[in-house]
Amino acid sequence: MAVIPVELAGRSYEVRIGNDLLRNVAGQCGDLLRKQRVPVVTDANVAAHWRDTIEASLSAAGHEARWHVVQPGEGAKSWQGLQALTDWMLAEGVERGDHVLALGGGVIGDLTGFACAILKRGCGFIQLPTTLLAQVDSSVGGKTAINTGAGKNLIGAFHQPSLVLADLGALNTLPDREMRAGYAEVIKYGILGDAEFFDWLAENGTAVLAREPDSLEHAVATSVAAKARIVAEDERETSGTRALLNLGHTFGHALEAETGFSDRLLHGEGVALGMVLAARYSARRGLIASETADRVASAIAASGLPSELFELGLACDGRTLAGHMLHDKKMDAGTLPFLLIKNVGEAFMAHDVALEDVAAFLDEQLG
Ligand code: NAD
Ligand code: GLY
Repeated sequence: MAVIPVELAGRSYEVRIGNDLLRNVAGQCGDLLRKQRVPVVTDANVAAHWRDTIEASLSAAGHEARWHVVQPGEGAKSWQGLQALTDWMLAEGVERGDHVLALGGGVIGDLTGFACAILKRGCGFIQLPTTLLAQVDSSVGGKTAINTGAGKNLIGAFHQPSLVLADLGALNTLPDREMRAGYAEVIKYGILGDAEFFDWLAENGTAVLAREPDSLEHAVATSVAAKARIVAEDERETSGTRALLNLGHTFGHALEAETGFSDRLLHGEGVALGMVLAARYSARRGLIASETADRVASAIAASGLPSELFELGLACDGRTLAGHMLHDKKMDAGTLPFLLIKNVGEAFMAHDVALEDVAAFLDEQLG
């Protein structure tokens, strides 16, 4: 098992990465579960695979699991979903010193984390991430949110979990497409700050996607360690360091918006293609050689993720895609900071990118 500390003064916690963590969830959580009844939030897909495992561990330790099961998908991250969850938590008598278990992907972690941030002005929660995306990204760092009609993740709070248990065995029931989507966030850590890890993934990516235990643990632990370092340095995304985690997200978000935030393009798939576009745009501006952008595109393509914009078959132009970027959360006083790369392993924030230039570039890529 790998144990990665997230160092945040009075709010520090551990991310434990290994096998059988869900089977021993009661022991892993220890005294954080201070009452007989333990509230668990999950979605119906995850419940179908993992409810019995959690139930067995909790009941063997004398606890009673209390379940709030939502429909799978982004729809749960809504005002209605939040209301239903907080009403349920109040009815369950959750107190500020209690911990709620968030068992699932980023949707469950974000929704539960936000509910716990505001319930009685803040109660505890434990992340039990069951997607690769949640294990390497969303369960660590304390960003919690719901979506509104105006956009994704626009209502939220920073609220750190007390513990994260990333059980690699949970990924055995994850559909391959979701596994690949999470893998995009793994490659992201290589491209943004760790050229050696990028090279390691080029050799071992297939084994990671096949859930080969040692490779998977190395990939998840390296990703979490990178995220923990960044979060410890810039917890609230104020210095610019944490913003590096958004590499590929500005292009990706525009593509997700154009495809209606639907199954047509999963978030991680949008990020994958977004990182290729960020690399190609960096090459267009003369920051990197076009061969370096090609290396990024090849790494993405080799893992079965989308790497060419024209392959999406979008019926829009570059201006339309760039228009979606105007609604980006990162817009600051009318300008959009843009993450580009100086090399594999060296991302930086550019503040001089004109959206018209991005639109012209996207027209070229749309083919
Ligand atoms: P998700 O939670 O919707 O999970 C994807 C699908 O996999 C769902 O259908 C789910 O039911 C299913 N699933 C989950 N675990 C499973 C398992 N072990 N076996 C079988 N099926 C399983 O999506 P996600 O990709 O994990 O997360 C996306 C969400 O995360 C988005 O809402 C995004 O905004 C958010 N996010 C948050 C952060 C953050 O820092 N808080 C970072 C990145 C993304
Ligand atoms: N996923 C981006 C962040 O946690 O900051």
